[in-house]
Amino acid sequence: MEETRRTQVAIIGAGPSGLLLGQLLHKHGIDHVILESRSADYVLGRVRAGVLEQPTIAALREAGVGDRAEREGLRMNGFDLRWDEESCHIDFGRIGKHATVYGQTRVTRDLMDARRACGGITLYEAGDVRPHDIESQRPYVTYRHEGRECRLDCDFIAGCDGFHGVSRQSIPKNVLREYALTFPFGWLALLADVPPVSEEVAWINHAEGFLMCSLRSKTRSRYYVQVPSTEDIRQWDADRFWALYRSRLPRDLAEKLVTGPALEMSIAPLRSYVCTTMRHGRLFLVGDAAHIVPPTGAKGLNLAVGDAKELADGLLRHYRDRDTADLDGYCDRALARIWKAVRFSWWMTNLTHKMTDNPFARQMQLAEFEYTRGSEAAQIAIAENFCGLD
Ligand code: FAD
Ligand code: DHB
Repeated sequence: MEETRRTQVAIIGAGPSGLLLGQLLHKHGIDHVILESRSADYVLGRVRAGVLEQPTIAALREAGVGDRAEREGLRMNGFDLRWDEESCHIDFGRIGKHATVYGQTRVTRDLMDARRACGGITLYEAGDVRPHDIESQRPYVTYRHEGRECRLDCDFIAGCDGFHGVSRQSIPKNVLREYALTFPFGWLALLADVPPVSEEVAWINHAEGFLMCSLRSKTRSRYYVQVPSTEDIRQWDADRFWALYRSRLPRDLAEKLVTGPALEMSIAPLRSYVCTTMRHGRLFLVGDAAHIVPPTGAKGLNLAVGDAKELADGLLRHYRDRDTADLDGYCDRALARIWKAVRFSWWMTNLTHKMTDNPFARQMQLAEFEYTRGSEAAQIAIAENFCGLD
């Protein structure tokens, strides 16, 4: 080995969960190093989530990075559920809560700025990152960095490396428990500097497929449309996107649609996935490394932040009080929160997307919309799930 270091916690992945965990550990005075396979620019350029729950903002604040999200984020007091030319407004005021529209790229930038300011070590473009001896008291991670073969000795490894990362793969197959459902469609997304068609985010059930109108500011829109999972992003350009999008928008929104060049376009697959083995020995899985939800419920980043906060609290108690109770309870506490969000995301996907060609399925969706429109209880159930369950 050409270079060996030691730290208390080795964090794999510098997405939102890894960066937030790093900031919380920094606040607690726990030594750590982050290893990220991509460059900082690549991580920063990944356009994804938009909606943050109140506890997510609170966790960012605790890490010293909540100010901008609170100051510059757009307050979301509700959203519109729409089907055909009908609609139902879900009002968060009924439960005394709100959410915040603040893009994941900005959360990432805020966390990166804070990390730079406190001098935390993040090794970007680390190659061939591999956890070792996770079942022992002395785990370590090997990686390649700037042409050198390196080793990082540590007490714990936090796998914050997303769905395709190496951490979950290093848990032996015979102990790994997984639950998965892959939807036969994805979201084609476009970001553009055009005024949003609607001030409120709208979820639209069209007979030919789902679409969502979201936003990043009064001048920047984020739009999504359901496409078969066989679609290839290389076959899409902005003009083709706008034509499909306009064709599915309700009339009042189509009249307000302003089109423009795409700042970004991508296709995200939709799946529900939970690995309940969130801890094995001294390896902990955090965020998308352990679970994926379809973006319909706006939960993925919020769950990732919840995991990072819980793990940081457990590590604090371990180092400060020599008490492992919180670390030992990490999986159970996290999973209790995760399964409810998985259920809500799956349910919202079933309600709003074209699930099958069977007309019966759409009639059930329409009946559910009509029921929701007439029932305060149904609207409150959606609002409290969307804003985050306590
Ligand atoms: P990631 O963001 O995937 O970060 C993992 C990091 O690990 C990456 O930087 C990756 O490069 C790195 N990595 C991977 N493998 C390795 C390796 N072997 N070695 C080192 N590093 C590695 N969530 C919400 O809460 N609200 C929303 O509104 C919302 N909207 C979404 C819309 C879309 C279209 C999509 C796709 C997602 C959305 N999400 C939303 C989900 C959210 O984006 C994710 O849940 C979030 O990015 C998870 O963060 P993470 O840090 O756990 O994982
Ligand atoms: C976005 C907003 C949502 O409400 C959601 O469920 C997924 C994504 C967004 O603005 O990107």
